[in-house]
Amino acid sequence: MSTQHGPQGLGPQGPHQDSPRDRGMFRTKTVEQSIRDTEEPEHALKKSLSALDLTVFGVGVVIGTGIFVLTGKIAKEQAGPAVAVSFVVAGVVCALAALCYAEFASTVPVAGSAYTFSYASLGELPAWIIGWDLILELALGCAVVAVGWSGYVRSLLDSAGLHLPAVLSGTHDGRFGFDLLACVLVLVLTAILVLGMKLSSRVTAVVVGIKVTVVLLVVIAGAFFISGANYQPFVPPSRPAVGGGGLAAPLSQLMFGFTPSDFGTMGIFAAAAVVFFAFIGFDIVATAAEETRNPQRDVPRGILGSLAICTLLYVAVSVVVTGMEKYDRLSVDAPLADAFKHVGHPFYAGLISFGAAVGLTSVCMILLLGQSRVFFAMSRDGLLPQVFSRVHPTFGTPHRSTILLGIVVAVVSGFTSIDVLAELVNIGTLFAFVVVAIGVILLRRSRPDLPRAFRTPLVPLVPILSVLASLWLMLNLPAETWIRFAIWMAVGFAVYFAYGRGHSRLGARTEDSGPAGARA
Ligand code: ALA
Repeated sequence: MSTQHGPQGLGPQGPHQDSPRDRGMFRTKTVEQSIRDTEEPEHALKKSLSALDLTVFGVGVVIGTGIFVLTGKIAKEQAGPAVAVSFVVAGVVCALAALCYAEFASTVPVAGSAYTFSYASLGELPAWIIGWDLILELALGCAVVAVGWSGYVRSLLDSAGLHLPAVLSGTHDGRFGFDLLACVLVLVLTAILVLGMKLSSRVTAVVVGIKVTVVLLVVIAGAFFISGANYQPFVPPSRPAVGGGGLAAPLSQLMFGFTPSDFGTMGIFAAAAVVFFAFIGFDIVATAAEETRNPQRDVPRGILGSLAICTLLYVAVSVVVTGMEKYDRLSVDAPLADAFKHVGHPFYAGLISFGAAVGLTSVCMILLLGQSRVFFAMSRDGLLPQVFSRVHPTFGTPHRSTILLGIVVAVVSGFTSIDVLAELVNIGTLFAFVVVAIGVILLRRSRPDLPRAFRTPLVPLVPILSVLASLWLMLNLPAETWIRFAIWMAVGFAVYFAYGRGHSRLGARTEDSGPAGARA
């Protein structure tokens, strides 16, 4: 074996790369090593997905609780009809991040998304941080959506005269109830995922079709009921925050000494930081890169395609719904369906509720999929116990990590209420965007030689704008969300130093390969 292509993949630029041992916690796993790991037979996932499958996955996970549930609440409490502008703001932040994700995903086509990208560019500790952060995003995101789904299904069951006892209907108004439906949904989806990717993507394709049809129905049928008067005022004047300020106020308002307020221009940004949840998931397309037939070409197409479709639909839906009903009268639980009840069309309302319930199923499933793949990648690297990265001999799926996380999410969704968790999911995701954008710049410098099927335009300008835009949205989240996020990350550090650091496969390889970090 030539030392030029030793285990740390020194390659032609070998001399200017530090050996992993020299860099300790900042040792990087080279792109070549990441790709080689995926080729080991007991760790290899099936490569069966196309660009269309990925776009379907993207749209499947992106359109969900954000548009079906949050639109009404945010228009009513924070932005008024200008919630459409909040969607554009959040969409721009995501587009900047997507341009960075696309370059990374097309260069490092390995399961694990931002986790893998940062292992290749920033080092092991930053990669661990991002992986831990992604688990938060995907696991809690899945729990949030499962709880939202359960609400829609209960409302359909109620219309049919079937009522679940309160003790099994989730937590409401501070009174605890176990959310049986959410819990069962997560367990059923976990079983489907264990049975195989291809089956999962077929189920998803049908579900996504129904969901997009329902969204288009809202836009097209709803357009006939728009009343111009409902858009007055389009940006309602700012007023002191209803819940008071304190730690519930956006960090930006506390930092800059503003009186915490709703509506107005600041309200549009605070709203953008929440409706951002509606875009979460396009990055998960990148986590399926390793299971894609032609990742270099198809992953960027899948990411950017699904993001463009969703942004367009969100703006259209929010413009239509706030035009159908005055923003301060919108329903908080089922705003799209209830807007049709308001204009006297309960049949459409029923169809929309049904479509939402079906649509949220696919969101939940793909969040679960992305999460198990990140966990799988971290375990394959030895940062989590390796028993979770053995692939099932028949199904070709990482069944152990899928089952473990499925059970955890099922329990969390049974015991949790939505609001606080959604904000925590957003801050975690935005943090991942920041790390990925920095990673693009660093990897361009350290490995300019790598083939990149998709190149982020105007580097470093676009990545820098992506960092600033993501940080700005993060600052618009409540101070208490920052505190919860800090606690989660502190636990992550403890786990890394207690387990991951000592069990890292990259660390072990470094020990074997001697001080120079190169094995002839
Ligand atoms: N973007 C997904 C949703 O809106 C997570 O539910």
